[in-house]
Amino acid sequence: MLSKQTLYKKQAGEYAATLIEDNMVVGLGTGSTVRFFIEMLAKRINTEGLNIVGVTTSSKTSALAKSLGIKLSSVDEVPYIDITIDGADEVDLNFNGIKGGGAALLFEKIVALNAHKNIWIIDESKYHDVIGQFPLPVEVVPYGSYQLLKRFEEADLNPSFRRTATGSRLTTDVDNYIIDLSLEQIDHPKSLAYFLEQIIGVVEHGLFLNIVDEVIIGGEQLKIITK
Ligand code: 5RP
Repeated sequence: MLSKQTLYKKQAGEYAATLIEDNMVVGLGTGSTVRFFIEMLAKRINTEGLNIVGVTTSSKTSALAKSLGIKLSSVDEVPYIDITIDGADEVDLNFNGIKGGGAALLFEKIVALNAHKNIWIIDESKYHDVIGQFPLPVEVVPYGSYQLLKRFEEADLNPSFRRTATGSRLTTDVDNYIIDLSLEQIDHPKSLAYFLEQIIGVVEHGLFLNIVDEVIIGGEQLKIITK
């Protein structure tokens, strides 16, 4: 039996699939909530004969979409993306988000910034007054990454390398590392984003500010929050 959280993810993901229209170029996010969206989208493509092109945000999503027969293109091959549906790890009342729990934040941000509309699908446990409970992922170049970790320690950002089940440092789709910052609460997301963006060796961070247009929240009742 599915847990409540999984059911709510499914509810949000499947609802998002109803928003896709014929001939759209669709950004396909990454994660377990997006999986429900992609599965339902594939069903609609097959039953309704929709002409959809997907632009994926990770190798995992590419593999899933291909296995379900969804046509794919790269972000550089399409004129623009009509709509991107992605998950998020945490969202606050001001539409700020933390993403990157699936280590796909770099491509997720690139796809999001090339989309006309961005929708996040989450379950209700991820919607908070303030973000920061979820560790903030920072994607870094491996060379010099230990020095970066020390620098984050000095700045009291509680950093740790993300590791695989076997204990080695996890690498992203483009062979970078992820340093997670355990912050508990991020009171000034803009200043933190600015701080991280100035550091050489930081490729991207998981603060998604001013990006999302609509959040679909699965729960006892489905909620849709529009900016
Ligand atoms: C991947 C992400 C995901 O969208 C985020 O981690 C949510 O995942 P899930 O739907 O599995 O909870 O940002 O990098």
